[in-house]
Amino acid sequence: MSEASTPDVSRHGMWSSRWLFVLAAAGSAVGLGNIWRFPYITGENGGGAFVVVYLLCIAAIGAPVMIAEVMLGRQGRQSPINTMRALAKRSGAPRAWGLVGWLGALTGFFILSYYTVIAGWALFYIFRMGSGMFTGADGALASSAFDAFLADPWMLAAFHTAFVAGTVFIVARGVTAGIERAVRWFMPGLFVLLFVLLGYAMTSGGFGAGLEFMFGMNWSALSVDGVLEALGHAFFTLSVGMGAIMAYGAYVPRSASISSTVLTIAALDTLVALVAGLAIFPVVFANGLEPGQGPGLMFVTVPLAFGQMPLGALFGVVFFVLVTIAAITSSISLLEPALAYAVETHGIRRPRAALALGLVCWVLGLGTVLSFNVWSDIHLVGQMTFFDFMDYATQKVMLPLGGLLIALFAGWVLPKTIVGEQLGLREGVPALAWAVLIKVVAPLGVLAVFAYALLG
Ligand code: PFF
Repeated sequence: MSEASTPDVSRHGMWSSRWLFVLAAAGSAVGLGNIWRFPYITGENGGGAFVVVYLLCIAAIGAPVMIAEVMLGRQGRQSPINTMRALAKRSGAPRAWGLVGWLGALTGFFILSYYTVIAGWALFYIFRMGSGMFTGADGALASSAFDAFLADPWMLAAFHTAFVAGTVFIVARGVTAGIERAVRWFMPGLFVLLFVLLGYAMTSGGFGAGLEFMFGMNWSALSVDGVLEALGHAFFTLSVGMGAIMAYGAYVPRSASISSTVLTIAALDTLVALVAGLAIFPVVFANGLEPGQGPGLMFVTVPLAFGQMPLGALFGVVFFVLVTIAAITSSISLLEPALAYAVETHGIRRPRAALALGLVCWVLGLGTVLSFNVWSDIHLVGQMTFFDFMDYATQKVMLPLGGLLIALFAGWVLPKTIVGEQLGLREGVPALAWAVLIKVVAPLGVLAVFAYALLG
C-alpha cells in the first residue's frame, strides 16, 4: 500500500486526539475575523444579502478547501511548502506546486502583520474597560475615545509590540499541551460571554432592527466588491487558503475522520460570527450609531453595551481578555507554516526562527500602525492606506488564489487512491459529491467571483 512509504507522525509533534485538533483548528478559525471583522464588513455591505453570500461561500468553497488542506497536511506530515513539494513529486506533477506553499507562508506573514495591530487594540481595551471609563457612557464618548486611541501611534505600537511578543513566545515553545489546555477553557468562555452580550443586545431595544439588518434581504445594498469581500472573508474566517490548516493537518492522527471534524470546526466558526453580529448590531441601532463605520465597530459598541450593564467593567475586561486570547490562538497558526518550514529546511531552532519571523512581522506591522494616524493620508493604491492595502491584498486576492490552487491540486492532481484513503471514501454518492465540490464547485466559485469583481 502507498501508505507504507508515508511517515505517519510529524517531527513537529502530534495532537493527542481528534478533539484536540478540533480545538486547535477552531482556535485558529475563531478570532478577530469573527468578532471584529465579520460584524463590521457586514455593516459596510448592507447586511442580510452579504450574510447569505458569505454563508454560501463557507459551505460551497471554504469547507471543501478546509477538508482538502487537512487531507494534504496529514498525507504530507510536513510544513505546507514541503508537503506540497513532496505530494507534487509523488503525483508526478511539477515541483512548482511548492509555490502554493510559499504563497501561503507569505500571506500568513502579511495577515499577521496587521492582525497583531488589531489584536493590540483588544489588549488595550482590557485596561480601558477595567478603568471604568465606559460606565454609563454614551455613543459619542465611546466613539471619540476610540478615535483618540487611533490617533496615537506610540500607543498602537506599544500594544502591537506586546501582542507580537506574546505570539512569538507561545509559538517558540511549540504547540504544546499548554496552548491546547488554554484553548479548551477559553473557547467555551468566549462563547458564554458572547451569549451574555447577546442577552444584553436582546433587551437593548434595537434587537428587531439588528435582526432585520442581518437577515433582511436587501440585495441592492450588495456591491460587486461586497461579493468578493464575502468570499475573501470565508477563507479568512476559516483560516484556509494559506496553509495554516494544512500545517495543523500534519499533526492530525490517522484515525480521525476529516470531513466530520472539519464540519464541526466550520459550524463553530460560523456560529460565533453570527452571534457576534447579533450581539453588536442591536446596540448600534439602539444608540443611533452607524453600522458601516468600519474597523472601529466592535471597539465602540461593545464598551458601550457593557457600560450600561451591572458589573459591566468586569465583564468588559473578561470579554477583551477572551478576544485577545481568541486572537492569539489564531496568530500562532499564521506563523506556523513559515516556522515549520524554517525548522525543517534550514535546521533553525524553533525559538530562533520564531523570533526572527516575529521581528519581520513586527516591522511590517508598523506600517499598519502609522496608517491610522501619521500616514493616514498616504495612499498606496487608489484610496487605500497601507493597512487597507495589506487587508485587500491578503483577504481579497491572496487567500482566494491560494484556496483555488489548493482545490485544484487536491481535486485534479493528487492521486485518487490517496484521497480515498485519507477521506475514507469509496465509490458512491459521498465520493461523487466530494469530487464535484473540490474539482468544480470550489474552483469555479472562486474564478466566478474574481471574474465578477474584475468585470463589474
Ligand atoms: N481565522 C482567523 C480569524 O477569523 O480571526 C484569522 C486567520 C488565522 C486567518 C489563520 C488565516 C489564518 F491562516
